[in-house]
Amino acid sequence: MTTAIPIRPRRLRGSPALRKMLREVTLSPADFIYPIFVTSGRGLRRPIPALAGQCRLSPDEAAALAAEVWRLGVGALLLFGIPDYKDAVGSSGADPEGPVQEAIRAIKKAVPEMLLITDVCLCEYTDHGHCGLIREGLVDNDATLPHLAAQALSHARAGADMVAPSDMMDGRVAAIRAVLDSEGYSRLPIMAYSVKYASAFYGPFREAAGSAPRFGDRQSYQMDPARRLEARLEADLDIAEGADLVMVKPAGPYLDIIREIRDRCARPLAAYQVSGEYAMLMAAAGAGLLDEKAAALESLTAIKRAGADLILTYLAPQAARWLREAS
Ligand code: PBG
Repeated sequence: MTTAIPIRPRRLRGSPALRKMLREVTLSPADFIYPIFVTSGRGLRRPIPALAGQCRLSPDEAAALAAEVWRLGVGALLLFGIPDYKDAVGSSGADPEGPVQEAIRAIKKAVPEMLLITDVCLCEYTDHGHCGLIREGLVDNDATLPHLAAQALSHARAGADMVAPSDMMDGRVAAIRAVLDSEGYSRLPIMAYSVKYASAFYGPFREAAGSAPRFGDRQSYQMDPARRLEARLEADLDIAEGADLVMVKPAGPYLDIIREIRDRCARPLAAYQVSGEYAMLMAAAGAGLLDEKAAALESLTAIKRAGADLILTYLAPQAARWLREAS
């Protein structure tokens, strides 16, 4: 007579070495894109109170920082400009001597291999703080497109490796693609902020970039957090218009959306761990409520596990340091 062997489901334990081998997700400094804020001047590294550990940098200091983070294994930067002047149409964004354009040249001289991505939007450059032109109190989508394309072209001429429109106007990817192609930049890729929710988590960024809207909010052009299906539509439209990479933003509160887009689109997918996510983590760690390193690496692991190929994060240099120590 045989006795049945009781089968008991069992979670794999084993040695630390085995557990390490079985990890499905491994973070690497090469996954990160580090967002930085550049301004005109020389020798400036001005701390940003809303974003502990981040600074507004003049082009020469941006180049020095680029060299530092390159040594840590971080190979890409996202540049935001803080201009000297603002007007109704954000024309300083396309100024060939603007801070982003100057910073691109300075960084390329110091670290030629560093991948430089520029944020393309009007909100940092308009006196009203909206991402598009205003007509009769409303954002005029179509009138905005040529201004975005002009800014993207000026970044390309300064030497940017990729442009990243974050404005959320309809048709901006196609408008930027057309201008880049006709001006000899058909090989320059576009990373579209395709799935960008109207999020409270952008608060610290708007202080850092001086880009809070003077009136109203961004709900007419950014997405409703309560809508999932629209994310598919936005990603599909941007890809149809010529986006080479797509992005989901914010990241941590939208892991389901990252997975949704990953499973649906064959384009490389970036996710942006935004200023509010970073500020929350730093504040909680600063108050002794969280272990900064463990919580930071866990948040990044979760974003990668959800399906992001690339992660835009203010934690990039510090996380790269921690990953190096661990390896
Ligand atoms: C510009 C832009 C914003 C962010 C990236 N590009 C702000 C906004 O949409 O208001 C937010 C980034 C962050 O919070 O870290 N349109």
